[in-house]
Amino acid sequence: MQYDEYAAIYDRSGQLRFSVLMNLYLRDLLGVHRVKGDTLLDLACGTGTLALLMAERGWRVIGIDRSAGMLAEAQRKRAAAGEPIDVHFMQADMRSFELPEPVVLATCCYDTLNYLLDEQELARCFSAVGHALLPSGLFCFDLATDYFLRYYWQGVEFEEFDDFTQVIQSHYDHATGYSTLVLTGFVAAGGGRYRRFREMHVERAYSDDVIRKLLLRAGFEVEGLYDCFTMEAPNERSLRLMYVARRRSSG
Ligand SMILES: C[S@@+](CC[C@H](N)C(=O)[O-])C[C@H]1O[C@@H](n2cnc3c(N)ncnc32)[C@H](O)[C@@H]1O
Repeated sequence: MQYDEYAAIYDRSGQLRFSVLMNLYLRDLLGVHRVKGDTLLDLACGTGTLALLMAERGWRVIGIDRSAGMLAEAQRKRAAAGEPIDVHFMQADMRSFELPEPVVLATCCYDTLNYLLDEQELARCFSAVGHALLPSGLFCFDLATDYFLRYYWQGVEFEEFDDFTQVIQSHYDHATGYSTLVLTGFVAAGGGRYRRFREMHVERAYSDDVIRKLLLRAGFEVEGLYDCFTMEAPNERSLRLMYVARRRSSG
């Protein structure tokens, strides 16, 4: 499964930084878009960094992810904290899941919804989140823009760390609008040997019209739309957008 092998090096390769920044940004967003209560679903929680940081701030968190490898890392980090932390991790698909209890806040961060490659899949995810939220609950998610996928997810990147090396090759298909990233990792396996793994990640962007249409159908109203990590409106060169959608209090 995608991310299972990447999981062990995901945080150390620098990806953890995103959740640290998102934790701070969510504090700003929630200062403006308020919710009553303290229950959070972090959808596609990955290695659990955001879930754990939010729990430190008093949220009672459920983290859902499809990858057993990512969840194992998340569990390991929770155990390493040494003290009881109110985070429960669950393996599930973000297009079809049910929570034991509805929550007041749902987050889905770091391009994850860009992995859903057609409108039906996105609609299924929005519907599942709608059911997981209490009336008036808030759904905050970021999306990479077409501009980002077209101009930034491009070319070849090579990074060398103490015990692993990664090569990232990205390509934007102008015909389909799909962006494909091939990650090849070489992880030290002792005795000067390296274990090689390869994962393919495909993302696509969605227009604002489509996102609003699907949110509306799933019972949400868009309450805020930002150039991600700022409180400013998006512009034509925004790399990432942050949607703040409120579940309607009825229906
Ligand atoms: C870019 S990572 C983001 C992880 C985490 N949110 C973060 O900010 O570091 C994408 C995550 O989405 C998960 N994912 C992808 N497709 C999924 C699906 N259909 N259902 C649940 N999780 C999924 C992957 O396993 C991975 O952990």
